[in-house]
Amino acid sequence: MFTPQKLSYALNALEPFISARTMDFHYNKHYMGYIAKLNELTTGTVWQNMPLEQIIRDSRHLDTPLIYNNAAQVWNHEFFFSHIAPNRPRISLKLLNEHFGSLADFKRRFKEQALARFGSGYCWLTDQDGLWQITSAANADNPIALDLGKPLLGIDVWEHAYYLDYQNSRADFVDAYLNNLVFPQEAG
Ligand SMILES: [Fe+2]
Repeated sequence: MFTPQKLSYALNALEPFISARTMDFHYNKHYMGYIAKLNELTTGTVWQNMPLEQIIRDSRHLDTPLIYNNAAQVWNHEFFFSHIAPNRPRISLKLLNEHFGSLADFKRRFKEQALARFGSGYCWLTDQDGLWQITSAANADNPIALDLGKPLLGIDVWEHAYYLDYQNSRADFVDAYLNNLVFPQEAG
């Protein structure tokens, strides 16, 4: 059985940038739904005791994508919720500057890729043996499935992540994510 990862902060801890109502739906309905579905699909099968990352790699090319999609979405949400936490690990600004020129240039490029994703998906920042890259990924695709190395950032741009707070303005959500959640100390 896959057990849900507890949220390390209160549902209202990210207000006003992400509302308690959005967090409630996102964590308690969407994320818990992926956990429940993954358990339903894997209990009593060869998948049930497999590490999540292995399931993601091994199930990606199956004819039926249900196991892959639910396993990847469990992983994606655990990553997303933990790296927007108030006590999250910090990204090295020195390394970010080395790879992208400046924080402003990084934000501009990351936002472009997050907005370029048509429909549901994620925008990832990854470190593959020292190569930092920004990747726009469809639906549940993530750095494990795409073999992109270590994930550093990943914004959920499915509409359920922002619609209650920003309606159709994904750009405003991406700005809040970059300027207020991930790099608040650099906002000026
Ligand atoms: Fe989500």
